[in-house]
Amino acid sequence: MASFDFDLHATEAAATEGPPRDWKWHLHPDAETMSRAVAARLADELRPKRNSLICLATGSSPQRAYELLVAHARAEPDLYEEARWLKLDEWGGLAMDDPASCEHFLRRLLLTPLAVPPERYFGWESQPTDPAAECDRVAAWLALHGPIDIQVLGLGKNGHLGFNEPTRQLQSGPHVAILSPASLSHSMLLQSKGRVAYGLTLGMDDILRARQILLLVSGRQKAPQLRQLVTGEISPLFPASLLRCHRAVSIYCDAAAAALIPERVLQSSCSSSRHNG
Ligand code: GLP
Repeated sequence: MASFDFDLHATEAAATEGPPRDWKWHLHPDAETMSRAVAARLADELRPKRNSLICLATGSSPQRAYELLVAHARAEPDLYEEARWLKLDEWGGLAMDDPASCEHFLRRLLLTPLAVPPERYFGWESQPTDPAAECDRVAAWLALHGPIDIQVLGLGKNGHLGFNEPTRQLQSGPHVAILSPASLSHSMLLQSKGRVAYGLTLGMDDILRARQILLLVSGRQKAPQLRQLVTGEISPLFPASLLRCHRAVSIYCDAAAAALIPERVLQSSCSSSRHNG
């Protein structure tokens, strides 16, 4: 598996200047209005390109946005008839129908309510007999059907994206991840009936090739991570910092998560919008 190689020049520039000026900040008073805006944004992205490939994170950050998207789809069902969906990551070793699996999460919240047929959804097998072969299968699918149009991301407690965990050398493509204690203590696993052995995830390059990236961050507990993302070093030890090498990132956050972002960063961003509900 290739390690991730990024543009050092762009990285140095971004490191001195903070986040790229064309990042779009969407500041909301709370997680509910943030989620509403994300659902509306996904619908807006589908209007000009109905067969967009949307790659989905799981976890608490996007959960409400997915519920609201389903509610929206009831009002405008045609809009969702061609959308293609991809699962970003999975807990390796859990059964597909384990209540904690990413598969179960997406089926329950989005795929079943939207009645997405198998040909418009692609995702990791959670218990592959050969995990490396499963990575090859996902990489081959992405080479054929990618790149991702819209990447929905949450921000891990330790700065991970998907299961791209902090490390000295990030992986570019789909890979098996050794999970950090931070990931293994994720609240999703509280409801698990099985034992997680490893993570399965798209790589950093897969994520950074996405046309648009939507990063969702809410709650006071994520404020230090969001601050580090925008003001810290770009480093594989904080994988989300690599987003600073991407020009089309939209940050959707609530006031609690944005509490530690310096005002100058928000002001220097060319498109910072504040919403009051
Ligand atoms: C998990 C998932 C990620 C998710 C992240 C944040 O471990 N693998 O896809 O985005 O951690 O989760 P949450 O939004 O619940 O904080």
